[in-house]
Amino acid sequence: PNDGTVVKIGFSQGMNTDDWRRQLNKSMVIEASLHPEVNLEIKDANNDVQQQIKDIEKFIDLGTDVIIVSPIEAKPLTAIVEKSVKKGIPVIMVDRKINSEEYTAYIGADNIEVGRIAAKYIVSNSNGNGKIIEITGLKTSSPAYERGLGFSQIIDQHPQMKLVSVINGDWESRSVKPQLKKLLQSDPDIEYIFAQNDRMALGAWETAQELGLENKIKFVGVDALNTPNGGIELVKKGILQASILYPTGGNEALRLALKIYNKEPITKNNLLNTIVIDKINAEIIKSQLDKVDQQQTVIKQQLENISEQEREYASQHSLVRLLTLF
Ligand code: FRU
Repeated sequence: PNDGTVVKIGFSQGMNTDDWRRQLNKSMVIEASLHPEVNLEIKDANNDVQQQIKDIEKFIDLGTDVIIVSPIEAKPLTAIVEKSVKKGIPVIMVDRKINSEEYTAYIGADNIEVGRIAAKYIVSNSNGNGKIIEITGLKTSSPAYERGLGFSQIIDQHPQMKLVSVINGDWESRSVKPQLKKLLQSDPDIEYIFAQNDRMALGAWETAQELGLENKIKFVGVDALNTPNGGIELVKKGILQASILYPTGGNEALRLALKIYNKEPITKNNLLNTIVIDKINAEIIKSQLDKVDQQQTVIKQQLENISEQEREYASQHSLVRLLTLF
């Protein structure tokens, strides 16, 4: 039952250039369509920090009820998020954070934990020389900092493991290839490469392949998407040894926005679960995620049928009104 209230939710997305971001948007849109009172608008900043600030400014000016943000970088987005909260418009951070606690809630996996889990996996599976290269995401975005922190916390406790180099990537595969090539040419004797996401892990594997090292080095990534060339497929193909699942949290973010709008009690830090995916569980996880996808398709289909019926009803209704005139 809808009393005609419209809840305006604005999502400021950093970019739309990879499957993880697209999946985040998709799950948020599906969740929004289950709540007829919600009017969800997504603005895509195209990986441009200044644009993202403008997008959030726009949401504030439009009188948006709740703003959801996945900030490209932490520092430059801090002031605008604080401004929104001060004006009384709640802001939910998804996946990435700002340099302040002045936001309403965070939802996403614990990125320090993601780094720790990757390191623990490598420590317990290492039977070689223990030499590791780490490839980070964009250092000015919070998950890169946090994954790196968690990763070295664990590695530092194990003297048999050696983090020999850290390459600063930008979350995309092309940013790591030239540097990694140079590193591997000067020291090919690396046991593990930990890349902070699967796209960079695949780029690292391709670089190793050019040098004939792809079977010697083991690769661990993050995200574990169930998409073509996503982490789950890469694990199944044996390209990655493991990927740490990084859920997008699109559905949950939208539900949280509604709770906040309805003034229900919430927790500030909402952590989503993560898990290591390797060849032992890749198949079962894939079939579970396939089922979720199928259910989402069914829901979408049903929603389309409902609005089709509504349109038909509306036109029959006006036909009946027309006929009663005669
Ligand atoms: C997607 C992405 C993911 C990564 C996340 C970190 O744009 O790069 O691969 O896990 O952002 O914020």
